[in-house]
Amino acid sequence: MTTQNLLDPGFELTLRPMRYPAFYEHYRNAIKNTWTVEEVDLHSDVADLAKLSPGEQHLIGRLVAFFATGDSIVANNLVLTLYKHINSPEARLYLSRQLFEEAVHVQFYLTLLDTYLPDHDDRAAAFAAVENIPSISEKARFCFRWMDSVEEIDRLRTRGDRRRFLLNLICFAACIEGLFFYGAFAYVYWFRSRGLLHGLATGTNWVFRDESMHMDFAFHVVDTVREEEPDLFDEEMGKQVAAMLEEAVEAELLFARDLCGDGLPGMNTHSMRAYLECVADQRLARLGLPPRYGSQNPFSFMELQGVQELTNFFERRASAYQIAVEGSVSFDDDF
Ligand SMILES: [Fe+2]
Ligand SMILES: [Fe+2]
Repeated sequence: MTTQNLLDPGFELTLRPMRYPAFYEHYRNAIKNTWTVEEVDLHSDVADLAKLSPGEQHLIGRLVAFFATGDSIVANNLVLTLYKHINSPEARLYLSRQLFEEAVHVQFYLTLLDTYLPDHDDRAAAFAAVENIPSISEKARFCFRWMDSVEEIDRLRTRGDRRRFLLNLICFAACIEGLFFYGAFAYVYWFRSRGLLHGLATGTNWVFRDESMHMDFAFHVVDTVREEEPDLFDEEMGKQVAAMLEEAVEAELLFARDLCGDGLPGMNTHSMRAYLECVADQRLARLGLPPRYGSQNPFSFMELQGVQELTNFFERRASAYQIAVEGSVSFDDDF
């Protein structure tokens, strides 16, 4: 039987004629962004860490504890849910590439924790944060709940199955990669704007670029399903997505309160709230939904650092490896 739609169950193998050439292009573009953990020099970060105030040290400790498990959760959902149900071999090529990138991210954060936390017990505590630190457990619980929501679906037979799958896909793109990680990146760029933790910022630039592409691909899948099966996207779905993003913002704010305490110079819960609300509105807009918050981004360092570093990244790669990069990077679109 010929596959009709992207979410029709099966393991389609035919690449020619190609039904979804745009997904193949996502795969080819991702290959151009290859980087390795060994290229990141964390040496100067160790000296910077010693200079931080107690409040800043607390913040960075919590942040790396979040990084210890975040990408592994995303990788697990990719294999257990996305790869299983997005029935296109060209899309599965992209997901294979994304899985590799998540592995590089996990390796980067492993190396980061090994460097930042030389004490065995501190390091073990950071890796166990998902169980022991409430502000991190809460975010993990959010992720696991949306993974569990599709766990027993073997094949996307019914409209209900497909809607549940789409909510999982949107959750991981818009709320986890697109909000939790974007929250984490803001703390890194805040340090960077003060000339601190250059190694972490370098790795973050590359992770940031990858995450933007993961989100872009996921939203492209949503667009495709929406064209093929528009009735899946009813008013109820819009409400569920808005509620999910609202919950994600609150979970990330719990984390912000833990990290910032009563506030640090240039970083506090109030600013983080506005930033997260602004990001959430952008995710809603990408999904064709009305804004929920109407907040402005208070972190000018996010836009400046991002554009500069992404530009540098492409210049460096183009000269070092002769990899052609086409098109331009628009920070606002991904932000
Ligand atoms: Fe990642
Ligand atoms: Fe990702």
